[in-house]
Amino acid sequence: MYLRTLYTMATTGKIGVFDSGYGGLTVLRSIVDRLPEYDYLYLGDNARAPYGNRSFDAVYQYTLEAVEWLFSQGCELVVLACNTASAKALRQIQQMHLPLRKDHKRVLGVIRPTTENIGNYTKTKHVGIMGTAGTVKSNSYPMEIAKFFPDLVVSQEACPMWVYLVEHNHLEGEGADYFVHQNISRILEKDPMIDTLLLACTHYPLLEKTIRKFLPVQVKLVSQGAIVAERLEDYLFRHQEIATLLSRNGNRLFATTDDASIFNEQATLFFGDSVVSQHVILI
Ligand code: DGL
Repeated sequence: MYLRTLYTMATTGKIGVFDSGYGGLTVLRSIVDRLPEYDYLYLGDNARAPYGNRSFDAVYQYTLEAVEWLFSQGCELVVLACNTASAKALRQIQQMHLPLRKDHKRVLGVIRPTTENIGNYTKTKHVGIMGTAGTVKSNSYPMEIAKFFPDLVVSQEACPMWVYLVEHNHLEGEGADYFVHQNISRILEKDPMIDTLLLACTHYPLLEKTIRKFLPVQVKLVSQGAIVAERLEDYLFRHQEIATLLSRNGNRLFATTDDASIFNEQATLFFGDSVVSQHVILI
């Protein structure tokens, strides 16, 4: 119980950043670099990661629990730094859950800001989307991209092993080479005219070095961190009623549903700054 409520002692007004595991740290890194003055609380549901192959209901339930926990710890705004959660849970949380609350708390995802921008990267107008099985199956990317860039040709490839590689820190070596090469070859076979490849899973930028080994130099590799950070800044500028609720002491707090010492070691590596987390139980 002590651990569960530890963060409530911290000030209110934080920005919560959520992912199934370590991947959201790639987004948090970009957000913190762009907006260093705010206070952040990162939550990785490492104990239940990966989410990619889980059912719609499971991802919704887990994401809702995470959002509720972040709200209970003083977050006014939560960014789902997870495509799978954004694809399977965000809309329902925004439409069914938030209206029941009597406050201004908000939840944002990563798919909308990305799809609003992706058309600006491609010259051939052929784009490849690399994501989890859940994200690909949801068809969220082709549907959203069609709203903003109806002339783009979009191909998708599910890369179920990539999240495992990241969660277990196998970013390079034979295993990573094998699976990354396989998925890159497949998407380029589906559409050889692709000149822009979107990493539509926040874990995947950690595999960038290996991905580039198998990607023709003319294909641009797009990660979401910088895009999401830029759109968040714009969102806060347009929504002063939210921005004024946020505290600005430059604090970063971390929580994981799995072992904190393992999380600290991995997260420090991935985030680039020293990470000290707390183990938390969400339900
Ligand atoms: N990093 C997440 C995403 O962007 C989740 C990956 C997973 O848990 O399978 O989709």
